[in-house]
Amino acid sequence: QVKQATNQIVMNCADIDIITASYAPEGDEEVHATGFNYQNEDEKVTLSFPSTLQKGTGTLKIDFVGELNDKMKGFYRSKYTTPTGDTRYAAVTQFEATDARRAFPCWDEPAIKATFDISLVVPKDRVALSNMNVIDRKPYPDDENLVEVKFARTPVMSTYLVAFVVGEYDFVEARSLDGVLVRVYTPVGKAEQGKFALEVAAKTLPFYKDYFNVPYPLPKIDLIAIADFAAGAMENWGLVTYRETALLIDPKNSCSSSRQWVALVVGHELAHQWFGNLVTMEWWTHLWLNEGFASWIEYLCVDHCFPEYDIWTQFVSADYTRAQELDALDNSHPIEVSVGHPSEVDEIFDAISYSKGASVIRMLHDYIGDEDFRKGMNLYLTKFQQKNAATEDLWESLEKASGKPIAAVMNTWTKQMGFPLIYVEAEQQEDDKVLKLVQKKFCASGPYTGEDFPMWMVPISICTSDDPTCAKMQILMDKPELTLVLKDIRPDQWVKLNLGTVGFYRTQYSPDMLESLIPAIKDLSLPPVDRLGLQNDLFSLARAGIISTVEVLKVMEAFVNEPNYTVWSDLSCNLGILSTLLSHTDFYEEIQVFVKDVFSPIGERLGWDPKPGEGHLDALLRGLVLGKLGKAGHKATLEEARRRFKDHVEGKHVLSADLRSPVYVTILKHGDSTTLDTMLKLHKQADMQEEKNRIERVLGAISQPELIQKVLTFALSEEVRPQDTVSVIGGVAGGSKQGRKAAWKFVRDNWEELYNRYQGGFLISRLIKLTVDGFANDKMAAEVKAFFESHPAPSAERTVQQCCENILLNAAWLKRDAENIHQYFLQRKAPPAMV
Ligand code: BES
Ligand code: ZN
Repeated sequence: QVKQATNQIVMNCADIDIITASYAPEGDEEVHATGFNYQNEDEKVTLSFPSTLQKGTGTLKIDFVGELNDKMKGFYRSKYTTPTGDTRYAAVTQFEATDARRAFPCWDEPAIKATFDISLVVPKDRVALSNMNVIDRKPYPDDENLVEVKFARTPVMSTYLVAFVVGEYDFVEARSLDGVLVRVYTPVGKAEQGKFALEVAAKTLPFYKDYFNVPYPLPKIDLIAIADFAAGAMENWGLVTYRETALLIDPKNSCSSSRQWVALVVGHELAHQWFGNLVTMEWWTHLWLNEGFASWIEYLCVDHCFPEYDIWTQFVSADYTRAQELDALDNSHPIEVSVGHPSEVDEIFDAISYSKGASVIRMLHDYIGDEDFRKGMNLYLTKFQQKNAATEDLWESLEKASGKPIAAVMNTWTKQMGFPLIYVEAEQQEDDKVLKLVQKKFCASGPYTGEDFPMWMVPISICTSDDPTCAKMQILMDKPELTLVLKDIRPDQWVKLNLGTVGFYRTQYSPDMLESLIPAIKDLSLPPVDRLGLQNDLFSLARAGIISTVEVLKVMEAFVNEPNYTVWSDLSCNLGILSTLLSHTDFYEEIQVFVKDVFSPIGERLGWDPKPGEGHLDALLRGLVLGKLGKAGHKATLEEARRRFKDHVEGKHVLSADLRSPVYVTILKHGDSTTLDTMLKLHKQADMQEEKNRIERVLGAISQPELIQKVLTFALSEEVRPQDTVSVIGGVAGGSKQGRKAAWKFVRDNWEELYNRYQGGFLISRLIKLTVDGFANDKMAAEVKAFFESHPAPSAERTVQQCCENILLNAAWLKRDAENIHQYFLQRKAPPAMV
């Protein structure tokens, strides 16, 4: 539609050559464009016409040539090997955020929606898929080896959700309870590996239909595994694409964490079919609506399909704490952030949009209650279906459904960066406890000293030892300070804030309140998610220098009786951070002793072999603990790992999938060049991408300098898929102190190739973070900063700033606490003093 007479049409277009373009006003003769002016920087083209196009509707026709590129964006080729060993290519698309313009000229913005009629001319022995079902397939007149496949018209939709795939695939199919045809496409010969995802998808579609009370609008949905794939998965409407490792499960060779990952990713992408595809964000500023929401509801969905995963506790260690870690930096950003250039859009696919977004939705859901929340979601999805919406629109619907001041509360969380630290102290007054709460912005660098006083509206819940699972009081804290009276509480009862670790804030207890909580960790009377949250808060307070690290080490020792996988996982992660920090000291070995002491009791309780009646979480816990002990050099674990690995390699006794990562990491950490060669051979032989990735991630554990170089060279070799190079280099950087230095040098030396490979994009940010985050002196911060000043990576600018900030924080932490930590370790080892 021409809305205003003009002789120019501007549209998005990148790496495309236009051959001819013409405009035909309805019922009138077509006019050929005479000039194509490409503005490469802006990814736009201006078509100039010799005469004025008058107001009215018409048809714009463009003949163009594009490139089937190698960059995993736009329309690109993905390499695969046939069962007989031939190398072939599939042609696939990845358009989000701004790459549909690389496949065809278009108005490539989420709010410019259109219907799409897609036809593909493809070799007749290939599978051709697109968003919609096939409505016609006929021989192509000019070439008997080709067919023309025509797909049904799509609903009105955004360009970033358009997709097509041409390649060789097998599939399994099912019909979901709500009548949608679901197929999972796998590499040829691996259809069986699609069954797990198929089951999850067939259960998930009716779950969402019921949750939103809105049906899935397309007749079919395909889920397809793509060999070369930059992201984890992409929610193209009706044709969801996945990395192989996010979709394929082999009953024998897949580990429990892969199963869980596949379930989460399927749950995430299918949620987008409603939240994102049917109702789309107005502009990328509201990307978090898409990603934060999907990252929340994927857990709801997995909890529905697999209650035994206890997935909500895992949410806290995977998303909530990760978000808080990033959001405590001065270089964080608000959830809603203004973006313009494509590189700025790429940049916000980060833990703020995903994990903080998901965390504030979880807090909101808890504040509203499930029933009203669902009512509001339905209002929102119905009102804006096939249209676009902004953050305020969601608040309005939820406000209508709940009668609560949603916009006022949520604006404090999405429009300003950061989150509060709530300081609490209690005073016994006869039968009551009087609590005093103060909120201040939480900063990774220590007490907030800024001049303005950012404030949040914080839903606070409080429980006591009388019933640790039930809120004794709930209140919305809407000012800097609050005094509360808890009635009828004995002096010996403890009081805890943030029941369920749902509120997006950290808590600092007065020393005596904290002391009273420690026994509740030991005797497990505090629920797992609260034990986790308490430990994590303390760890971050220590990192920020608000309390001493030694104090946290003591608390960690109170977890002797801990049975919960997720609690261990979070604790292990924090000990890993501390271990990385102390790798810069000369008492690194001492923290390994501490790790061994903390993990030995649970390691002994678990043993190596599953016991009857064990489940998913036991398998995860065993892998975690054995890996931790093995890496730290726990003698018995190391010996057993070596024995089992030998049997595995000799084919005497194949390692169960859940034991492979811990065994591999253990033998590599304490291995030599023969070990590395054996691992590389296993890598070559592996048929499943999951196994290849498993090996790639742990190679960096090797410690000899020349072997580290070998791993780095391997990272860029043909043996490693381009998207996986990042985790190999990251593994080296995270594996040892020498590895960190070597990886950083390697990234600098190979910068051009790496940057080119990912063309900016979010993988480059991930690479930078994994490589430099562990440094801990001011000089390194300056070096990193200088390097990226002379080698700019626009989509990673903020990441670089965050990394430099982290390096300085590490340096300060080391200076502040290293000596005390060392003393504590020595004193733990010393024989008890004679009295
Ligand atoms: N929409 C994203 C895919 C995406 C990511 C496109 C980055 C462009 C840039 C998709 O829904 C997504 O979020 N995928 C996640 C996996 C998910 C389970 C968290 C991913 O790719 O990491
Ligand atoms: Zn997503």
